Amino acid sequence: MKKIITLEVNGDLHEVAVAVHQTLLEVLRDKLGLTGTKRGCAVGTCGVCTVIIDGKAMLACLLLAVECQGRSITTIEGISSADELHPVQQAFVDQGAIQCGFCTPGIVMTSKALLDKTPRPDDEQIREALAGTFCRCTGHIKIMEAVKTASQYERAEKKSD
Ligand code: FES
Ligand code: FES
Repeated sequence: MKKIITLEVNGDLHEVAVAVHQTLLEVLRDKLGLTGTKRGCAVGTCGVCTVIIDGKAMLACLLLAVECQGRSITTIEGISSADELHPVQQAFVDQGAIQCGFCTPGIVMTSKALLDKTPRPDDEQIREALAGTFCRCTGHIKIMEAVKTASQYERAEKKSD
């Protein structure tokens, strides 16, 4: 059975026909073309599908698209401007916290959600926030460093505003 729903993604409203069993991940990737959100395990264990919904990092593979009506969804495509990376993305580049990049969108979104709520997280808070994410090739030390660098970049940016 299909249903027409309206999703707010990266500030834009999209009317889409979805099957009631379709996940947000399927709709983002296959109907809206937002393939920055990755499909990995599809059962909630790898974190590559993480998006931010109403300010919280959530797994798009575990949510039904129909549940997401009326909520504000942000994907990796929505955090940078045309000519500038988001400070979290820049920090990952500067710290070399990316190799194949497959996990990166999910980890960046998880980190952004953390820093939005906790601008100066300690190691334990970073570890806890990233506990549901998995990187098979960079290693999590560089990723931890990137989150700390992102915290510095964001605080410096706020000071200069
Ligand atoms: S694809 Fe969603 S957690 Fe792995
Ligand atoms: S950079 Fe390859 S899985 Fe994380």
